[in-house]
Amino acid sequence: MESLNLVMNNSCAIYAKLPQTGCNLGVCRSIRTEARRRNNVVLCKGGERLWLDRRELLLASTSAIAVGATKKAAAKPMPPPDLEKCHNPDTAPTDAQNLNCCPPYSEKPVDFELPTNLPMRVRPSAHDVNDEYVEKYSRAIQLMHELPPDDPRSFTQQANVHCAYCDGAYYEGSLPVELQIHNSWFFLPWHRWYLYFHERILAKLVGDDTFALPFWNWDAPAGMTLPPIYSHPGSPLYDELRNPAHMPPSKVDLNYDPQKKSNILTGPKLVASNTNLMYRQIVSGAKTPSLFQGQPYRYGDNPDPGAGTLENSPHGPVHVWTGSPAQPNLEDMGNFYSAARDPIFFAHHANVDRMWTIWKSLEGKRRVDFDDPDYLQASFLFYDENARLVRVKVADALDPKNLMFSYQSVDIPWIKARPKKSSAKLEVTSVGSHAAIAAGHISEFGSKARKLVVPITALVKKPKKKRSQKEIDDETEEVLVIGGVEVKRGVAAKFDVFINLAEADSDTAISCPEYAGTFSNVPHHHEHGGKNKRNGKPKSPYRKSSFKVGITEILEDLGATEDDNIVVTLVPKGDFKADPIVISSIKIEYD
Ligand code: C2O
Repeated sequence: MESLNLVMNNSCAIYAKLPQTGCNLGVCRSIRTEARRRNNVVLCKGGERLWLDRRELLLASTSAIAVGATKKAAAKPMPPPDLEKCHNPDTAPTDAQNLNCCPPYSEKPVDFELPTNLPMRVRPSAHDVNDEYVEKYSRAIQLMHELPPDDPRSFTQQANVHCAYCDGAYYEGSLPVELQIHNSWFFLPWHRWYLYFHERILAKLVGDDTFALPFWNWDAPAGMTLPPIYSHPGSPLYDELRNPAHMPPSKVDLNYDPQKKSNILTGPKLVASNTNLMYRQIVSGAKTPSLFQGQPYRYGDNPDPGAGTLENSPHGPVHVWTGSPAQPNLEDMGNFYSAARDPIFFAHHANVDRMWTIWKSLEGKRRVDFDDPDYLQASFLFYDENARLVRVKVADALDPKNLMFSYQSVDIPWIKARPKKSSAKLEVTSVGSHAAIAAGHISEFGSKARKLVVPITALVKKPKKKRSQKEIDDETEEVLVIGGVEVKRGVAAKFDVFINLAEADSDTAISCPEYAGTFSNVPHHHEHGGKNKRNGKPKSPYRKSSFKVGITEILEDLGATEDDNIVVTLVPKGDFKADPIVISSIKIEYD
C-alpha cells in the first residue's frame, strides 16, 4: 500500500483490498478541483486510478467485476486537457489566420451533472424547419457573435473549441503528447458533447430551453443540398467561405473527389452512389463498435489510432465538399482549425451524431457502445451555457435521452439498400476475377509500402476458408485491414476499396455491389508542423493510420465467402498527385 504512487493533488485513504489485482478501494479528496468532495476510487500500484460512481462502487466492492474493471483501468482513460498548458495550435496550417484557439481560462472545472429540468428537445431536419425556427436560430447565432470576444460562449470561442481539440493546442493531461479527438473512438462522444454545449448556449441566449440544433439530412435525397437556411448572404447562418458551386440546388456527393473535373455524378446516379456509400459505411461495413466508431485511444497513446467508417466517409467528404477551393486550406469547413467557424458545421455534425443513434438501432448484437472503462471514464472540458467550465465523461454521452435530446424521425432510405446479389454484371466480374486469379494475373500486395498514385490491385489471402459456427453465432466479423496508411495531414486525400473488381478505376461508380468502403482525410495539419514536444524533432507532416471495414456481408453477396483469396482494388481519389497516400499492407483479420 505504501508503494501506491498517488497523484499529487489528491489525498486518499484506502479502506479495502481488491483480491488478485494489486489494487485497493479508497476515498480521495481532490484538493485541486472539488474542495471537500470525496471520491470513491480504485487505486493500483503504479498510480493507476479508476474513479467510481456510487453504483460502480457497489459492484466493485462485491464482485469479480471489479477485478476486470481494474485490470482494464490499468491502461488509463484519457484525462481532460490541462487548460493552463494550452498553446498555439502549432499543427494548424502556417498560413492560417487567428491562430490562438485556447479558451479564456481562470477557474477550476466542476463535474458535469446530467440535466434534470430540461425538456426533451427534438432536433429537426434543417430542410424542414419553419420561419419561426429560422428566426430564433439566426437570432441565437447573432447574439453569440455579440458576446464579448473573451466570453467562452462567444461565436469565435465556440469555433475555437474545435480548433484547440483538433490542431494540437492541448496535451494528453500533463503528458507532452498531442491530444487529438479525431481518428479514434473519441470522435463520436466528443462531438456529441461539443454540440450539446453549443446548443445549450444558443438556447440560453434566446431564453428558450426547448431550442434544439437542426441536422443536415445529407443521407436522404430530400436533404442532399446544403440546407437553404444556411445559404442566404446576410443571414447569421451564412458563411462566405464555402464552395460557391455547391450552393443549393447542387447536391452533395458523399464520396466527393475535389480533383475530379469530369464525369461528375448528378441526379439518380448521385443518389445511388450516396445510398450505397451510406449502406457500406454504416450498415454492412460497420458491424462492430471499433469498425463504426474508431480505434481505442488511451492516456499516453499516440494520437490518430484510426477512424471508424462513419468518420472516414461521409463525415470527411462533406467537410471537403463544403469548404472553399479558393482558400489556401479549404476554409472554412474543409480544414479542422476553421471548420466550426461555419454554422453549417453544427448541422453537419448533428447528422453525424444522428448516425450514431441509427447505427445502435440496427440489427446485430454487436452494434453497442464500447464498455471499456478507458473509454467510459475518459473526460473532456467544455464551457456550459452559464460560462462554467465543466468536466464531462464519455459515459454520460452515450445515451441521448440522458442529455434530453432526440432527432426528428425522417426517412432512412439506405438502411435496407443492400446491393443486389446476383446481377448479370456481378456474375461476369466475379467469374472474371476468379479466372484472373486462376491464371496468376494478380499478385499479392507484397511486403514493401507502395504509393497509391494509380489503382493498386492485389490478391489477398483469407486466413480462414470460412468462419466457424461459433464465430458466426458470435457475429465475429471478417475485416479488411488496409494497414500503414500514410497521408499528408494537409491533403484532402481519399481512396475507395473494391472487392473482386480488378478493373475498378476512378470512373467506377461506387453504387456497385463490389464497392466495400472509403477512407478519407480531412485536412488538419500543415507541413511545417512545429516541433514534437515529446522528442523535440520536427513534427511529421504525415499521419499514419489504418483503414478497417467489415466484409462478411459483401463476401456473401459476391459468392466469395469460401474462397481462398479475394482481389482487393484501392482507387485513389482526391488531391493525391503531389502527395500520394502510401499503403504498407492489405490483410484480413477478425473482429
Ligand atoms: Cu471535428 Cu467534422 O470534425
